[in-house]
Amino acid sequence: MTTIQVKASRAYEVKIGRGLLSSLGTEAAGLVTGRSAAIVSDTNVAPLYLDRVKTSLTEAGFRTCEFVFPAGESSKNGETYLNLLEFLAENQITRTDTLVALGGGVVGDLTGFAAATFLRGVDFLQLPTTLLAAVDASVGGKTAIDLKNGKNLAGAFYQPRLVLCDLDTLDTLPDDIFADGCAEVIKYGMIGDRDLLDLLARKHFRKDPEEVVARCIAMKRDLVEEDEFDTGARQLLNLGHTVGHGIEACSGYGISHGKAVAVGMTILTRAAIEQGVCEKEILEKLQKLLKQYGLPDRTGYATADLYERTLSDKKRTGGTITLVVPADWGKSVLRKIPVEDLKIWIEKGL
Ligand code: GLY
Repeated sequence: MTTIQVKASRAYEVKIGRGLLSSLGTEAAGLVTGRSAAIVSDTNVAPLYLDRVKTSLTEAGFRTCEFVFPAGESSKNGETYLNLLEFLAENQITRTDTLVALGGGVVGDLTGFAAATFLRGVDFLQLPTTLLAAVDASVGGKTAIDLKNGKNLAGAFYQPRLVLCDLDTLDTLPDDIFADGCAEVIKYGMIGDRDLLDLLARKHFRKDPEEVVARCIAMKRDLVEEDEFDTGARQLLNLGHTVGHGIEACSGYGISHGKAVAVGMTILTRAAIEQGVCEKEILEKLQKLLKQYGLPDRTGYATADLYERTLSDKKRTGGTITLVVPADWGKSVLRKIPVEDLKIWIEKGL
């Protein structure tokens, strides 16, 4: 097992290893004072792991209640959020009690936002069950729900008390969902870890993911500790995301986050080559790696549509937007540009 300490506005541990769901109760009992836990999960994950999590908490002396909502991004909305708050109130969750997010990014983001706002803040624990949630969404305290106008437009920075990444849960993921997480893993390599990129190119890590997952989380920890509230270095984590969110929006969220981020990274790399920021060889290596991990590198959407949908993303600040631009193999840089120049970057990258 690997343990990573995160020292943000609240300090917590991220534990990465096998069989960790069964130790949840003991871990939670040592962290929180209340003895009621509301487990939040979705209809994909609950049938697989809810009983195990519930048993672990019950054996450690917790009273539990469960809120399970329909799986999918379309549930990450105001209605599910308010239903969850009402559920917590009905089940008499108090300020010393805790919420447990059991699932992927949608479950983690929604539960975290409910935890940040219910009774003005209760503790929450993250149990990510997808690769994407393990390496990205569950760590760093970004919590949110989607609004009709765009993804993650209502949210809060609110750190969990503990993250348990049970690698056994990744074994049951369909290949396609695992590939989505691989896009985020490749992103970490592209922003600052050449050795990780070489490791990924040598061997697929699916059978033995601990080292790769830990490496990604350690990099995220470093960026979150430096810039918890996302005004500087943390923005590097957005590589491929600005245009990626535009692709997701153009597809009516039919294209998954990971696939959109993969395409977003190649668009930015192509544009960076055109702008003289990086060498052609970087694009070739990236495309090869994406192919190896079952990820796309092109989109059929036109510049105008992508530009329009990308603008509704919250990464814009006034008249400027900060792009994450690949500069070398294992190195990306931040570049602030006028919003209207984004159109040129997209055009050059398609
Ligand atoms: N998912 C990007 C971040 O946490 O900053």
